[in-house]
Amino acid sequence: MRTKIVAGNWKLNYDKKTTNKFIESLKKSVDKLPLNNTRVIIAPTFVNLSSAVEKVEKSNIEVVAQNMHQATSGAFTGEISADMLKAVGVNTVILGHSERRTYFNETDQALAEKVNTILEKGMETIFCFGELLEDRKSDNHFEVVESQLKNALFHLEAKDWKSIILAYEPVWAIGTGETASPEQAQEMHAFIRSIIEKKYNKEVAEKVSILYGGSVKPANAEEIFSKPDVDGGLIGGAALKVDDFTAIIAAI
Ligand code: 13P
Repeated sequence: MRTKIVAGNWKLNYDKKTTNKFIESLKKSVDKLPLNNTRVIIAPTFVNLSSAVEKVEKSNIEVVAQNMHQATSGAFTGEISADMLKAVGVNTVILGHSERRTYFNETDQALAEKVNTILEKGMETIFCFGELLEDRKSDNHFEVVESQLKNALFHLEAKDWKSIILAYEPVWAIGTGETASPEQAQEMHAFIRSIIEKKYNKEVAEKVSILYGGSVKPANAEEIFSKPDVDGGLIGGAALKVDDFTAIIAAI
């Protein structure tokens, strides 16, 4: 059985005080949920990771980072390394988010290097990818997704995939209020599994958790999560409210 995951990507939101208050409140509401085989994850900003890790102690909530540099150290002003994250108790990193690709020019090549660093350091990634609106309109979405995965992940060995969580986030659905339909999400997730099976084998394809991200809300979460190849969600806006995030977790 694949692990289910509901992850909140907080992006550039919440200072230390709000982060800690949020966690206090989320702990209480998550405690009441039956979390069978479901991981609950939040990704606060870098400066609040350390205190967030302390705050989630003795709870079912995990704290992950939103990004990481591929180099282990050096002259990379403003960047954060894998070892720095590990030192504050963070072992999972979101990589390749469309906002990183669009606003910070992250390339597939850089992402492949980041994924290598994740594996070298014994960490785990939630690896994001997804097509632009124009790709979907021109019916190129499968090709775009396939090339994003090939370029950043298909150099890995089958054994490495235990450290990979995938997050399909169609860019046209992020922060727009427009979600992919459950059928569109299922269709893409099944396609992703099929190309992983072709490249590796059935076991790797069946084991990897594939999250959907893009305007997931309490009102649509259950239907999206009900699809057989959707193993959870990467949530933006709705992860910033404890009630909404809890409702989404409960929908899985
Ligand atoms: P929204 O849920 O706000 O559309 O954001 C999705 C996202 O980018 C999660 O990483």
